[in-house]
Amino acid sequence: SLPPQCVLTGRWVNDLGSNMTVMAVNEKGEFLGSYHTAVTATSNEIKVSPLHGSQHRTNKNSQATFGFTVNLSFSDSVTVFTGQCFVDEDGKEVLKTMWLLRSNVDSIKDDWKATMVGVNVFTRLRTKK
Ligand code: BTN
Repeated sequence: SLPPQCVLTGRWVNDLGSNMTVMAVNEKGEFLGSYHTAVTATSNEIKVSPLHGSQHRTNKNSQATFGFTVNLSFSDSVTVFTGQCFVDEDGKEVLKTMWLLRSNVDSIKDDWKATMVGVNVFTRLRTKK
């Protein structure tokens, strides 16, 4: 039987309640999208941020690895995610990711506290008609 297919394109929600939209993945595996985080480490008002990503071997791998960068529009930080698109036992697509968030610090002396790390699990967002 054919292996289950996991497709990145579409709308996703993660375990924090953050939403992202991934546009079409091109022939090189590149994609663009938008990221609406549910949380922030800053006191700034949350706004939607652009994302730029790259997916590995679009045709040959039905559960592809990928990475994307979120350039935060409302803070001076950047987050990079890497992960893999899986089809779980219930046939549902799930993105298992890890991220590194780099904050802007004023001095090289503060470099040690400038990076956060975490995991996020994304499932496909389905809004009722
Ligand atoms: C900031 O606090 O400087 C910007 C907001 C960053 C949101 C992070 S990105 C990694 C983690 N996953 C999310 O969905 N939101 C947080």
